[in-house]
Amino acid sequence: MSQPLRLGIAGLGTVGVGVVKILRNKVDLLRQRTGRKLLITAVSARDAYKDRSVTLKDYAWESDPVALAQRDDIDIFVELMGGHDGPALNATKAALAAGKDVVTANKAMLAHFGHELATIAEEKAALIRFEAAVAGGIPVIKSLTEGLAGNQISRVMGVMNGTCNYILTQMQATGRGYDALFKECAQLGYLEADPMLDVGGIDAGHKLSLLSAIAFGARVDFESVALEGIQHIALEDIEQADDMGYRIKLLGVAQMTSAGLEQRMSPCLVPKESPIGQLEGGTNMVVIEGDEVGRIVLGGPGAGEGPTASAVMSDIIEIARGIRISTFGQPANTLVESGPSPSVTPAPYYIRLRLQDQPGALAKVATVLGQEGVSIDRMRQYGHSEETAPVLIVTHTTDRNALDIALQNMHKTDVLDGTPITIRIENM
Ligand code: NAP
Ligand code: HSE
Repeated sequence: MSQPLRLGIAGLGTVGVGVVKILRNKVDLLRQRTGRKLLITAVSARDAYKDRSVTLKDYAWESDPVALAQRDDIDIFVELMGGHDGPALNATKAALAAGKDVVTANKAMLAHFGHELATIAEEKAALIRFEAAVAGGIPVIKSLTEGLAGNQISRVMGVMNGTCNYILTQMQATGRGYDALFKECAQLGYLEADPMLDVGGIDAGHKLSLLSAIAFGARVDFESVALEGIQHIALEDIEQADDMGYRIKLLGVAQMTSAGLEQRMSPCLVPKESPIGQLEGGTNMVVIEGDEVGRIVLGGPGAGEGPTASAVMSDIIEIARGIRISTFGQPANTLVESGPSPSVTPAPYYIRLRLQDQPGALAKVATVLGQEGVSIDRMRQYGHSEETAPVLIVTHTTDRNALDIALQNMHKTDVLDGTPITIRIENM
């Protein structure tokens, strides 16, 4: 039997406690599967006196996570504190500098500093593994890095924020509005400390940037992800989409185009019958398309103690087995710089707007769209009882830049009331 593998765990919240429980409860199973004993040496959190529903008395306590990361008696630093910089980043850098392997669930830190950390890790012959950082319990990082390593990946897409999917599916199922469901999510404890991370698409954008790096051999570039949240989605949009055979999802898409790597996280209309269209509640789904394998659909719980701790454990077990894989599946110095794609793959768009109820108003809107080459597929006026008329337009496949110019020009007409809502239609 090899030497025990010694772990230092920083962060004893939802995920950290889940990991401690697995390590305590599955000692024999883990030893059988890795051929080594997995030992927690030391732990860290802010409050040393908090009751965490798990026994910690067997482990040394470090109030400073950087000190924990540098201890001589740990082999792996398990970072489960969160936060894109601050203590998580400092401690991760300290661990790597000391030649320790790092396991983390921190998508925010990796989205901002992933390339820098991967470079440091390689210089120190250390590892960073982060299965739990994307889609919680779904083994999507290992699927891309290992299971699909023989494929040229053409597209990765998915629903990677359970809170947004919960809000959108509950709007559909119950007819309650965004504001009521946002409040419910706050009461249920679903929201991140900064809710904009969820509803603004940032958390899901972080995750997409990590998948893109692996799938396309690119440096993590979160700044290049075109982000749009779900805050402006109204019940009306959910209902109109349903009427046309679609569901609205906060969908992330990364694909290599002739113009470069396109990465976007935004609400999209997707066909109701598609796997993503049928995804309910807080679950996640990632679809990967590869030249050899075709299409892979991975679904499951994207958050919570058990699923996220399960993913963290998969990384610890991988290291215990002696498997050593570059952070993003290939050496950091071979990852290419991508930058924002100058254009977005053309698509049909759903546009909801309110028009002054006056002769020629619709014609003016149609003219403005036509001038930019945006062709209308369907158009209808509905629910018309006020002074302004709600109008729904579905375009044919169009260039997003042309549509944006048309929308700017629409504002210059005297017939528009408020700002139109525009949602991409993603056929899959
Ligand atoms: P959490 O419940 O808020 O726990 C955070 C833990 O970190 C707490 O134990 C806290 O200490 C500790 N901590 C915070 N700042 C610290 C500092 N300066 N020094 C030492 N300890 C510190 O968070 P979580 O939900 O477990 O999430 C942990 C990580 O997993 C995050 O990166 C998150 O994005 C990621 N993640 C979470 C989920 C999920 O379902 N929760 C899913 C996927 C990924 P105290 O307890 O003493 O306050
Ligand atoms: N806030 C995230 C979500 C947690 O709702 O999916 C998991 O990363």
